[in-house]
Amino acid sequence: MKALILSGGKGTRLRPLTYTTAKQLVPVANKPILGYVIDHIKDAGIKDLGVIISPDTGDEVKKYIDGGRRWGIRVTFIPQGEPLGLAHAVITAREFLKDDDFVMYLGDNLLSHGVKDALRKFRRESPQALIFLKEVDSPKQFGVAKLDRKGHIVQLIEKPKRPPSNLALVGVYIFSREIHDAIARIKPSFRGELEITDAIQELIHMGYEVKSEILHGWWLDTGKKDSILQANTVVLDEYVKRDIQGSVDRKSQITGRVTIEKGAVVRNSIIRGPAVIGKQTEITDSFIGPFTSIGDGVTIRNSVIEHSVVLNNAFLSGIERLEDSLIGKSTKVMKNASQHKALRLMVGDDSTIEV
Ligand code: TTP
Repeated sequence: MKALILSGGKGTRLRPLTYTTAKQLVPVANKPILGYVIDHIKDAGIKDLGVIISPDTGDEVKKYIDGGRRWGIRVTFIPQGEPLGLAHAVITAREFLKDDDFVMYLGDNLLSHGVKDALRKFRRESPQALIFLKEVDSPKQFGVAKLDRKGHIVQLIEKPKRPPSNLALVGVYIFSREIHDAIARIKPSFRGELEITDAIQELIHMGYEVKSEILHGWWLDTGKKDSILQANTVVLDEYVKRDIQGSVDRKSQITGRVTIEKGAVVRNSIIRGPAVIGKQTEITDSFIGPFTSIGDGVTIRNSVIEHSVVLNNAFLSGIERLEDSLIGKSTKVMKNASQHKALRLMVGDDSTIEV
């Protein structure tokens, strides 16, 4: 059994962050999403991992994975020249995958329980594909599955107007070698991509067995700002522990599950968990509320911040109240010192600002 993580793509929905960072490396609770994905691959006992990378962000992804040493797994990087679809990524990885069974995991998806149980089911029942499904409130925006009474997949429909169920396709799949034959028979979709849903549908047409596993824990597709904030909330809620390694002065108050990493300094401030504060970050005369992740080397002065993600080396000063925000690396957000009520902005392309 091998694993294939898709860590290429364009990440257009997460611009401007993705102009300078791979979207799979955007941190959730101060750890890149890709780190959680590789943890799940390791927990499932898989030792041979292929990672699809793009020309733009491949080097950064390689640097983070660092040969897989941290996880004790072998990693092969597979460059995909253009993001021509999830099934195209599988074609690109053909030499690595050979005829082996494999787990395919989208590098920007987070699952609460990982893939261990589903792998067991795949080994026991040996279908040609096992796909993960999750009950959602608004199936119209997802790929949706129609099942028969035995739980076999009958049909998959991308963003249906009239959804046949509320079961959305999650970005994790387990395949046997037959998927390659199915991919060879499909054509690009209207958006010009080779779609994995079409390939799975083709497997069904070819008479193969496609089974499903319904997820009961959470599933987060982190492709957009609000989903990053949601992932941050869920992960902080579930995993963060009280662990204070940085320095906190007597005038400060730290309540609940708060991690303060080495070298961080907190002065005359209140931090209410769950929250994480990165290395070498300085917080002075401020309030950091629940569900906030502050990266490394950040400076925060005289500000109130809640339910937000602040990336490395950002600088915030005099901000009365910042909520539900995602602040990019080395960004400055400051209160205008003059009486004159004007906004002075220098904002990157594709940014969103609400005032
Ligand atoms: P998507 O989120 O579908 O695509 P994207 O990354 O291009 O994002 P956007 O729609 O915002 O432009 O991709 C899901 C995952 O699969 C993501 O981790 C990127 C990866 N991927 C590839 O590795 N190769 C591809 O050809 C595509 C389409 C995606």
